[in-house]
Order: sequence, then structure tokens, then C-alpha cells
Amino acid sequence: MTLSGHRMRPWSGRGMLAATGIAVAGLIGGLTAAQTAPQEKPLLSDQVFKNVQVLKGIPVDEFLGTMGIMAAALQFDCSDCHVNAGTANVDWPADTPRKIMARRMVSMVATINQNNFGGRQLVTCWTCHRNRDKPLVTPTLATIYGTPTVEPDDVITQIPGLDSPASIFDRYIQASGGPQRLAGLTSISAKGTAVGFGGFGGDGAVEIVARAPDKRSTIILFKAETNRGDQIRTYDGRTGWVRTPLNVVGEFQLIGSDLDGARVDAQLSFPGQIKTILTNLKSGPPTTITDLPAPTSQSSVLQGAIGNQNHIVDVVQGTGPRGLLVTLYFDQQTGLLLRELRYGLSPIGRVPTQIDFADYRDVNGIKLPFRITYAWLDGRDAILLNEIQTNVPVDEAKFGRPAPLKPQ
Ligand code: HEC
Ligand code: HEC
Repeated sequence: MTLSGHRMRPWSGRGMLAATGIAVAGLIGGLTAAQTAPQEKPLLSDQVFKNVQVLKGIPVDEFLGTMGIMAAALQFDCSDCHVNAGTANVDWPADTPRKIMARRMVSMVATINQNNFGGRQLVTCWTCHRNRDKPLVTPTLATIYGTPTVEPDDVITQIPGLDSPASIFDRYIQASGGPQRLAGLTSISAKGTAVGFGGFGGDGAVEIVARAPDKRSTIILFKAETNRGDQIRTYDGRTGWVRTPLNVVGEFQLIGSDLDGARVDAQLSFPGQIKTILTNLKSGPPTTITDLPAPTSQSSVLQGAIGNQNHIVDVVQGTGPRGLLVTLYFDQQTGLLLRELRYGLSPIGRVPTQIDFADYRDVNGIKLPFRITYAWLDGRDAILLNEIQTNVPVDEAKFGRPAPLKPQ
């Protein structure tokens, strides 16, 4: 998980510079941690970091998720709370007034939820802050009488009379090639190109491999001269790893809800098993979703493939392992899966990851997406595949821990 690109949200004006600066800091400040951390047993936040007082004892993936939530909720940069983030002299453990305030707010939010909502995480940083350092106090009349913006709840309420999740899944299975062909799909091997947030570092060479029922890895190798380092996510059916050298930690093993998310991502690679991946299924009212904008630098690569296109979609929500909440959006026109939105856990609220699928093409009778946009609180990868092969042998090692970091 890269924490560097969180400013690259389209509505954030200060994007590129901030992202690039932080990325450099990540490279310099991060690699040593990755190289020296003993990796036999996954480490928890207070074992990896030096000055953790309230976010103790949680997986590193969830700790970094909380940083993403804080930054996103206040529309902050890492450097707004951390000394010299964005430079070679970054001092993550040092306390700053804002960091101290944020720590107090973590405890405040926990107390509010505990005392008023039975411990359910209903009040989060976002509840008050909404992209601001200081929350709004008074409703403005312009807002009240202006055009309302509709934002859906995370959790869907089942409304009677809607298509059932099973029927939406059936349509997806038919649209993808039918149950028989899908049952014969055992592996996927794909190649293409990727651009990270803002295109920092130039195009990467992407390889995606998956094996049924639940292994998947995305390997993005950036050209050496860009100095960007590789971005690798692996999941072997049991353990998962993330390597993002543009990050404080560099490489870490997934043990929190990103692990459960990686599992769902892997399982979703094989549409024939769609009915068995999630439980507590509900269907929500059909809605309209809009493609995530691609990083601007990508437009040349994409050649117009990305627009702010709208799609009317059927919505199914379910839960995965350990309470992972997953919402799936299926194109009403084609029946195909357009979006997976999954929410991991953190001590201060849900951490969203959104994966958009587009440009479905026929591969030996099965419809597979050739464009994948992977967005999390702190960055985006947009992947364009130019070749997908099915049922070819895949090297098992590709699902395991990434090979050791090359010396820089
Ligand atoms: C709103 C303020 C705020 C923002 C923005 C923020 N952090 Fe933090 N960060 C904190 C707080 C508070 C802690 C200490 C948590 C604790 O004591 O449990 C912390 C701790 C850390 C630590 C552990 C340092 C150590 O060794 O003790 C790292 C690493 C870190 N943050 C990285 C980041 C990154 C990367 C970003 C940008 C995505 C970021 N933070 C954004 C408030 C912030
Ligand atoms: C119940 C509403 C509420 C929630 C929830 C909330 N905050 Fe705040 N926060 C405030 C208010 C109000 C202020 C302004 C205080 C002031 O101006 O003295 C503030 C100020 C801050 C500041 C100082 C900003 C600055 O630069 O002046 C930080 C940092 C901060 N909050 C972080 C967080 C984080 C992180 C979370 C989630 C863990 C959070 N807040 C949740 C109400 C909230």
C-alpha cells in the first residue's frame, strides 16, 4: 500500500507535487526499514514503529490504513502531521502539535462510539472533518438550498422486490461465458502496462497471474532508470505480501483486513465461483456509478479509453472473512462486474479499496477485463492488459513472498 499518492484524488487541487515529494521521501526513508525488518513473523504496529501510543498491536496494513483515513479525512498530506515528510529528513516518530491532536482525536472517536453507539464505528474522522482541517460548524444556506450531492451509505439495506443477489450472479455467470466454460477456467496469466498515481516513474510492465480457486498476484516492474521500484501484491491462498518501495515500510506481510481483501480479489478472478465468495448477501437498489478518472499522465496510454462514463448497475453486498464488507457492481447492460468496493477495518473506521474492471474481451469463450483500476486511500494503479491467456501453467513462486529487494 503506497501512502504517497493520496493527494491524487481528482478533487484535490494540490496533487502532483505533493505526491512526488512524498514518494521520494518514502524511497529514502523507507527502504532501510524494509530491509532490516525480520520477516519470519508478521510484526505489529508497535514493533515496527517507534512512537506508537494509541494505535498499538494492530497489523501494519491496518496501521497504514489509519494514516490514509486521517490524511483523507482532513485533506492532509503526510507532511501536515509529520516532520519533513516529503524530504530525505523525514522523522515519522517525532511528535508535532497536529500529530498530538490527531492522537487525541483517535481516543475521542473511540470514546464517542463506545459511549453512544455500543462500540460501533459510526463516528469517524470523516464524520466531522470532510476534507477540512477544522470541521464546519454552521450549515450554510447555499448548501441547504443548493443541489444536493447524494452519497450512498457503506452498508446496504435490502429492499424487498429487487432482483436477488443470486439472480444478479446468474446473469454475471452467463455474461462471463456460462457455468460450464467457467468451471474449466483454472488459471489466468496476463501482461500489460501500468501507470501509478500521476504517472510518477513512468510506465510499468504488469504481469497478473491467478490460479483457481484463490491465488492471485499483480507484479508491476518499473524501469530501473525511473528509480521507482517495483510494486507487487501477492496472495497464495493463505498469505499475502505487498511491496511498494514508495512507502514508509517498503514491504510487509498482510495480516489485517488487506489479507482478507487480497483473498476476495483472488477469488473474484474466477467468475464461476461468484456465489461462494461472500456471505450475508444483499442486493441494493440499482444505481449509477462513474469510472474513476485515470491519472492524467495516462491519457496518452489510454487513448481515450477512459472517460467519466456512467453505468447503471445492479448492486450486491456481502461479507467476507473477519467482517470484510464487499460491494459489487454489475453492469445492467452486459451483466459483467464493473466494480469491487471493499472495506477493510481499522481502529478509526473502514478503509476503502476500489477496483474497477473495464474493456471486457473474449478470451477462449470467457469475458475478462483488460483494464483494471486499483484505487485505495493513498494511490491508484491503472492497468491496461494487452494479452490474457487462460489455463496456461503459472509459476507457483509468483504467488509467494516477492523476491528480495534489489540494492538501489
Ligand atoms: C492528521 C495527522 C496525521 C497524518 C495526516 C498522518 N499521520 Fe502518521 N501518525 C499520526 C499519529 C497521531 C501517529 C501516532 C499514532 C500513535 O501514537 O498510535 C502517526 C504515526 C505514524 C508513523 C509511525 C512513526 C513511528 O515510528 O512511531 C508512521 C510511519 C506514519 N504515521 C506514517 C504516515 C504517513 C505515511 C502518512 C501520510 C499518508 C501519515 N502518517 C499521515 C498522525 C498523522
Ligand atoms: C466530533 C467531531 C470530530 C471528529 C469525529 C474528529 N474531529 Fe478532529 N477536530 C474536530 C474539531 C471541532 C477540530 C477543531 C478544534 C479547534 O479548532 O480547536 C478538530 C481538529 C483536528 C485537528 C487539528 C487541525 C488543525 O490543524 O487545526 C486534527 C489534526 C484532527 N482534528 C484530527 C482528527 C482525526 C485524525 C480524527 C479521527 C481519528 C478526528 N480529528 C475526528 C472535530 C472532530
